[in-house]
Amino acid sequence: MEAVFGLLVMIAGVSHGMLTSSCDAREDGCQCYGALGGTVYLQLTDTTVSELTFKKDPTGVTTEILRMRRNKMIIADSIKARSEFFMNNRTFRISNTERTDSDEYLLETFHSNGSSLATRRLHLFIEGSGFNVFVYFQLAEVFILMAICLGSYCFYKKKTCPQEQDDGQ
Ligand SMILES: *[C@@H]1O[C@H](CO)[C@@H](O)[C@H](O)[C@H]1NC(C)=O
Ligand SMILES: *[C@@H]1O[C@H](CO)[C@@H](O)[C@H](O)[C@H]1NC(C)=O
Repeated sequence: MEAVFGLLVMIAGVSHGMLTSSCDAREDGCQCYGALGGTVYLQLTDTTVSELTFKKDPTGVTTEILRMRRNKMIIADSIKARSEFFMNNRTFRISNTERTDSDEYLLETFHSNGSSLATRRLHLFIEGSGFNVFVYFQLAEVFILMAICLGSYCFYKKKTCPQEQDDGQ
């Protein structure tokens, strides 16, 4: 369901030529999607959470991407130039997405006294080359529009049929 929603958000973004997608990753096990070379917004937690760490590839070469402690934050040098963390809504933005951004991520949140509050996993998928994805979704959009037109045409036909019979009586 989240996957379908993620894809829909991505279609919406891509079909407007922005290659932008957003993902509400406030639940455990979220799957988020982005187009290669595009921008992904990941909403990590509620604003009530004041301390968190966000790690990439927690079961392999673990890299700490983001750390927030009260009102201070640190973003890893490896991603600093193309990312931003919005404190006001706890949303992490990755721009100019790369294939290597596709990975498993781990989010750990903490109480203000430093004890662990929760850990959540998130899987980010960066798909296709921007151009191919764009063309594919343009085609999909045309197809969906055609299906809607055809559907409403059939509906119209069905509705008019009894009317024609009425006229004949
Ligand atoms: C979070 O805030 C940023 C900057 O104000 C905005 O661009 C983004 O759309 C917001 N995201 C959400 C999920 O509210
Ligand atoms: C830290 O704070 C939380 C919530 O206020 C509390 O449940 C927890 O027991 C505290 N832990 C320690 C080690 O003080």
